[in-house]
Amino acid sequence: MSENTQIFKGLAGVIVDETAISKVMPETNSLTYRGYAVQDLCEKCSFEEVAYLLVDGELPDANQLKAFTDKEKSKRELSPELLQALRLLPQTAHPMDSLRTGVSILGCEDPRIWDSSPETNLDKYLSLLAKIPCIIAASYRNKIGAAFIPADSGLGFSENFFHMCFGKVPAPEVIKAFDVSLILYAEHSFNASTFAARVITSTTSDIYSAVVGGIGALKGPLHGGANEQVMHMLKEVGEAETAEQWMLDALAQKKKVMGFGHRVYRSGDSRVPTMKKYAIKMAEFTGSKNWMEISEILENVMVKEKNIYPNLDFPAGPAYYMMGFEIEMFTPIFVMSRIAGWTAHILEQNADNKLIRPLSAYVGVPQREVNK
Ligand code: COA
Repeated sequence: MSENTQIFKGLAGVIVDETAISKVMPETNSLTYRGYAVQDLCEKCSFEEVAYLLVDGELPDANQLKAFTDKEKSKRELSPELLQALRLLPQTAHPMDSLRTGVSILGCEDPRIWDSSPETNLDKYLSLLAKIPCIIAASYRNKIGAAFIPADSGLGFSENFFHMCFGKVPAPEVIKAFDVSLILYAEHSFNASTFAARVITSTTSDIYSAVVGGIGALKGPLHGGANEQVMHMLKEVGEAETAEQWMLDALAQKKKVMGFGHRVYRSGDSRVPTMKKYAIKMAEFTGSKNWMEISEILENVMVKEKNIYPNLDFPAGPAYYMMGFEIEMFTPIFVMSRIAGWTAHILEQNADNKLIRPLSAYVGVPQREVNK
């Protein structure tokens, strides 16, 4: 290694490519998808519109949206073989692992797996968008020992997911909060899972392999897995009265507190105020206010003591819990949404591809002979 070799551990601060999909602006704590502020999209659009926008580049008009949602609804059915394969997995399997396996099986079932033309990939995107929620719901139903509930093509994307998990559709307030969470989770530039998907795509591998890789990366608690860890933490804290001391103890023990900090945002995550607003709405709607009370105290102590701010996972975790989801469902729900961002990046990578293959500085033993 030469004296001038500079190592960028974790690729921190390295710009590896251009993108036209989203812009993260840490200096103003803001985020745009295809030029639209994410907060604006949350208040004025459905998740389906954003799922269209990210991949297409423009918001759909009424006809385009209808064609898109009709197609998504028509692709929701899972094959009996896939449903059976999910049933054969151990009941203890985490739904994120079942989902990773399920998407892998979708790849095996697709005769056009090697066709990565933009038109075919768009069709595969709609299929993944439609089927990922069904795989998650099927895994959940298996886990609780309940029968699979088929998709209802009369229901919208978010409504259908609740229907498949719980057999009923909740109040519009819950659907709106869920939809907002999906919009906020849909895309975030070159994060670890998106980069993993782009690396796989850069080898000219297929979309399913890239998505499976993305799921594997997203699962980790330093990335998407944090939304589950946040809820475990809030349950461990238990009550508002002990929250301040809990956080002071955690900081004294130099613990990584889940749901705080971000590689890019250093003074607040652009997505947090909107998600927090909807998490508070969920607290008011359900009457279980303690989670947001505990959250508020943890946030205040963390900001005061360390100047580290919450990230999106911090309000999303309790919001999902209050909507009635088991904790293990939180990161799979993230996938339901991030499939939009991943696909947009897979198409962008394919459109101007160069194999992603960085260098490393060797620090092992010098060359030697095999003596035997
Ligand atoms: N809790 C406690 N301390 C934290 C922290 C957290 N969640 N996040 C960062 N820090 C501290 C680190 O201990 C480190 O302190 P030091 O300089 O005294 O050693 C400093 O802040 C920088 O952190 P570092 O981990 O080097 O930053 P990073 O850019 O590599 O990490 C994350 C970013 C997201 C991986 C990190 O903040 C983290 O692990 N957060 C918790 C997991 C999480 O919520 N992930 C979801 C991200 S959207």
